[in-house]
Amino acid sequence: MKSTAKAHANIALCKYWGKRDSRLNLPAVGSISMTLQALSTQTAVDFRDDLPADRLILNGKPASERACRRVSDFLDVLRREAGVKLHAQVDSRNEFPTGAGLASSASSFAALSAAAAHALGLNYPKPRLSQLARRGSGSAARSIFGGFVEMQAGQSPSGEDALAVQLYDEHYWPLEMVILITDPARKKIGSTEGMNLTAETSPYYRAWIDSSGKDLAEVRQALAQKDFEKLGELTEFSCLKMHALALAARPGLLYWNGTTVQLLHEVRRLRAAGLLIFFTVDAGPQVKVLCLPGEGQKVKARLTGMPGVHDILVSTIGPGVTLVDD
Ligand code: PMV
Repeated sequence: MKSTAKAHANIALCKYWGKRDSRLNLPAVGSISMTLQALSTQTAVDFRDDLPADRLILNGKPASERACRRVSDFLDVLRREAGVKLHAQVDSRNEFPTGAGLASSASSFAALSAAAAHALGLNYPKPRLSQLARRGSGSAARSIFGGFVEMQAGQSPSGEDALAVQLYDEHYWPLEMVILITDPARKKIGSTEGMNLTAETSPYYRAWIDSSGKDLAEVRQALAQKDFEKLGELTEFSCLKMHALALAARPGLLYWNGTTVQLLHEVRRLRAAGLLIFFTVDAGPQVKVLCLPGEGQKVKARLTGMPGVHDILVSTIGPGVTLVDD
C-alpha cells in the first residue's frame, strides 16, 4: 500500500479567485494555466497498520501540525472512498528551492492525489484525480495535466463537474516562464482566507464572476491561434483584475512589495523596447514573466541585477502527474 508520484506546479494565465463552495473547494470561476517543468514535487505515500496517526515529512523534516491536519483531512476523503482506515506516512519533497516563497500546494496535492489513490488500489483516471486534487487546493486540480490546462468551475453542488481538462499538451507551444523571487518568506494571507474575504467584502466580486466566461473564451482563442501578444495581454489583464478585486476587499489585500511593482514596470519597459514578455503575479509578491519559446534565459539575463530580487528561476512548459515507482 505504497506509491510515489511526481507533479509539477502551474501558473494561471487566466486566474481563479473565489469559491462557490468552501467545504468541497469548488471554484467560483474557471481558470487556465500553464504547467511548469522546473517546479516539481515528489511525494511518497505509505499506508501502514502500525501508525497511530498520519505522519507528514516535508523536505526531510516533520511538518507543522497545521500542514499535517490539511493532509490528513485530504487523506480522509480517499480513505472513505477506498473503505480503508489505515494511517499513512507521507514523505513530500519539493524539487525547487524550498522557502523560496513559491506556493507548492498545486504540485504537492497533485502528487499526493496520484500517489495516495494508487497506494489504496484506486485506479483513478486523470479527470477523477483532478477532482480529488481540487479538494486539497484549487490550483492542484490543474497540475494533474501537463501543458495548457483549463479548470472548469462547474455547476453541480456535488462538484462532479469541477475538474481540470487539458487544452493542449506540453509539446503544442513550448512557452517559458521566468520566476523572480522578491521575498523568500511564506505569504501572510493564504489564498483561501483571501478569497473568502474578497467574496464577502469586495464590491467588484460580482463583476469578476460575471465577466470570467469572456476572459476564459479569449484566452482559449489566443492559445488556439498561438497568438502570443494576445495571450500576454490577457495574462496581464487577468492578473491585474484579480489584484484589483482583492485590493478592494476590506481590509484590502495587498500581496505585492515594492520590488514586485518595480518589476511590473520593468517588464513593460522592456516590452516597449522590443522584448516580447508579459507579467503575472499570484497571491504573493513573486513575479512570473511569460516568454516565447527558447527566450527564458535571455529574459533572465535582462532581469538579472534588479534590486530586491533574491533569485530567478527559468522554466519551460511541463508534463502532468506521473507515478514514479513500480
Ligand atoms: O490553489 P489555491 O486555492 O491556493 O488558489 C490559487 C489562486 C491563484 O494562484 C492566485 C490563482 C490561480 O488560479 O492559480
